Amino acid sequence: MLDKIKDLLEEVKNLTAASAEEAEQLRIKYISKKGIIPQLFNEFKNVPNDQKKAVGQAINELKNAAQESITQLKEQFEQSGLTSGATDLTLPGSAMPLGSRHPLSIVRNQIVEIFDRIGFSVAEGPEIEDDWHVFEALNFPPEHPARDMQDTFFINQDPDILLRTHTSSVQIRTMEHQKPPIRAIFPGRVFRNEAISARAHCIFHQVEGLYIDKDVSFADLRQTLLYFAKEMFGQDTEIRLRPSYFPFTEPSAEMDISCTLCGGEGCNICKHTGWVEILGCGMVDPAVLTNCDIDPDEYTGFAFGMGIERIAMLKYQINDIRLFFENDVRFLEQFRAES
Ligand code: PHE
Repeated sequence: MLDKIKDLLEEVKNLTAASAEEAEQLRIKYISKKGIIPQLFNEFKNVPNDQKKAVGQAINELKNAAQESITQLKEQFEQSGLTSGATDLTLPGSAMPLGSRHPLSIVRNQIVEIFDRIGFSVAEGPEIEDDWHVFEALNFPPEHPARDMQDTFFINQDPDILLRTHTSSVQIRTMEHQKPPIRAIFPGRVFRNEAISARAHCIFHQVEGLYIDKDVSFADLRQTLLYFAKEMFGQDTEIRLRPSYFPFTEPSAEMDISCTLCGGEGCNICKHTGWVEILGCGMVDPAVLTNCDIDPDEYTGFAFGMGIERIAMLKYQINDIRLFFENDVRFLEQFRAES
C-alpha cells in the first residue's frame, strides 16, 4: 500500500489541466467523496497496526499534496477569468469598428492637396444661387443658347433663383470680393436636371480652378494642368488639349489624359482612342473680368473645371456613377485603406 501511495504522490505533484473544467475533473478524481484519496482512508482500517503510523502519514501527505496542486490549477484559471467571468486584462481588446471616407471625399482632398502645393487656396460658395452668378456674369446673356448646355433646376419656378449647375459661380463671387492676384480652387456640389444613368447624375461634384494675375498665359494653364494630371494619375500621364467652347473662356479647351487603364493602347474605358476627357478649361473671357470690376487690359487669367466623380471613376475604375450615391457599405468599405 505504501508503494501505491508513493506513486500517487508523484502523480498528484505533476498534475496539469488545460481548463478550469479539467481542474475540476481532477478534484473529483482525487479528493471528492468517492475519489481515490478518501478511498485510501477507507482502506486504512485494514492496515496492520504496526504500519498504521507510516501509512497514515503517507496518506495525509498525499491528501495535502493533491489539494495543493488542484487548488493551484484552479486559481490559475480563476485569475485568467475563464471561470469566474472576471476581466482578463491580458486578452486582446475588441477592435473599434472603423469607418471609411467616401471615395469622393478622398479624391476631393487629393485634388485640394495637389493644388495647395502650388499655391491655390480653397473657397466655397452657396449651392442655391442667382442667375447672375451662374449665368449672366459668366457671359451667358438671357436667351443665349449655351444656357441649354446645362439643364437647370429652378427654385419655386423663380427664374432668378436656382441650384448652381457648375462651380463657376464661385469664380464670380471670388473675383467680386477679391482683387488679383487670385489663385484658388472651388470644390462643391452641383445640380443638373438630367436623366440618371451609369454616366450621368442630377447631383454631382466639381472642382473649379481660377488664376488671375498680370501676364497669365495659356502656357501657364497648360503647365498647371499637366502638373495636376501627373500628380493625380501618375508621372507617365500625358495630356492633350482640344479646342472647345464655353461662354466664359476664350480660347476654350477640353483636356484629355492618356488612358490610365491601357496606357494609351486602347480599351473600353477610352473607347479605343487611348485618351479620356477629364476637364474643361480656357483663358477667362475679358467680358467676365469686366463684369467683376477687374480691368482686362491689366489682368489675364485662366480657369478650369472638372467633375470629381469622373476623376474618381477613372482613378478607381468605377463604371457606374450611381454607386457614389447609394451608400452601399460593400462599395464604401473598399476605400477603408485610403486617407
Ligand atoms: N463650368 C464648366 C462646366 O461645368 C467647366 C469649366 C470651368 C470650363 C472653367 C472652363 C473653365 O462644364
